[in-house]
Amino acid sequence: MASALPRVLVLNGPNLGRLGVREPEIYGHASMADLEIAGAKWGAELGLEVEVRQTDGESEIVGWLHEAVDAGAHVVLNPAAFTHYSYALRDAAAQVTTADLLLVEVHLSNPATRESFRHYSVVAGVATGTVAGFGFDSYRLALSAIARKLEA
Ligand code: DQA
Repeated sequence: MASALPRVLVLNGPNLGRLGVREPEIYGHASMADLEIAGAKWGAELGLEVEVRQTDGESEIVGWLHEAVDAGAHVVLNPAAFTHYSYALRDAAAQVTTADLLLVEVHLSNPATRESFRHYSVVAGVATGTVAGFGFDSYRLALSAIARKLEA
C-alpha cells in the first residue's frame, strides 16, 4: 500500500485574506486564492499534501494548531499581526514543535526592516525556523525546508 504524503497546514492570520488589495507595495498583487493554487503546486513538486487556510480569528487559528498536533501535520504559519503579541498563538505553536512536528514561521515582508512593533515575534522562539522577506517565495522556501528536513 502506498504511504500517505506528509501533511502540511499552511495557516494564515488576520488581514491576509486581503492579499492583492492590501498595501500591494508591501505584500504584492497576488491573492490568498493564488497562494492556495501555488501551495498545491509546490506540495505536488515536494511530495507534501499542502492545505492553505486563512482566518482573521485568533481562536480559529489556535484551533487549527491543535488540529495539526492531533493529526500529526507539520505547519507553515504566517501569524500576521498575531506574531507580535499573541501569547495564545505562541502557546499553541509550542504544542506543535514539542510534539516533534515542524513549524516554520513565514512572513511576506521582512518585519525587521519595518515599524519597531513588528521587530519582535512571540512565535519565533517556539518555531523550528523562520523565513521572511521573500513575498510568496517565503512560503515555497518554508515548504521546501520542511521537505528537506523530513528527508534527512
Ligand atoms: C506579515 C507581517 C506582519 O507584521 C503583519 O502584521 C502582517 C503580515 C507579513 O507576512 O509580512 O499582517 O506577517
